[in-house]
Amino acid sequence: MKTLIIYASVHHQNTEKIARAMGLVLNASVLNFFQVKPKEIKEADLIGFGSGVYFGKFHQGLIKLAQSLPLTKKKAFLFSTSGMKKNFIVNYSHNHFKKILKARGWEIIDEFNCLGFDNFGLLRIIGGINKNRPHQQDLAQAKDFARSLNKKIKE
Ligand SMILES: Cc1cc2nc3c(=O)[nH]c(=O)nc-3n(C[C@H](O)[C@H](O)[C@H](O)COP(=O)(O)O)c2cc1C
Repeated sequence: MKTLIIYASVHHQNTEKIARAMGLVLNASVLNFFQVKPKEIKEADLIGFGSGVYFGKFHQGLIKLAQSLPLTKKKAFLFSTSGMKKNFIVNYSHNHFKKILKARGWEIIDEFNCLGFDNFGLLRIIGGINKNRPHQQDLAQAKDFARSLNKKIKE
């Protein structure tokens, strides 16, 4: 089975770290959203979409890519890193992205979120929040999540 992970990670590469940890477990190609070619999407059986949360949404580049995806019944999973965890903004960002994929016929099999270092705007004054996140435990949880995906796919 071919797995592809597409990420957008423009602040501190927080999401890229999660993407790479999941990629190891899933034996997946891990690509930045602007590197992906239509052929790679077509050939993948499972695609993970990951982004930092920026103003309550996934990165605009990833959103645009999702809007141009082929109409197909492919399986997908979502993940994100954010300054705040499990708040209405994270939920909103995931739901917004899920709606786009579902409209194109895709099936979302699971989702993952963890905290990421954030020193955007006024947070810079206090040196940022979630220092050193994602940390080793976050990466371990991302790997566990990826293992659970492996199981789900085989069911
Ligand atoms: C421009 C900007 C907007 C952000 N907006 C939000 C937000 O709405 N909610 C949130 O929880 N975190 C927000 N954050 C924090 C990021 O989601 C967090 O730092 C994330 O880990 C960044 O991921 P990255 O390093 O992969 O880009 C924002 C960060 C930036 C730079």
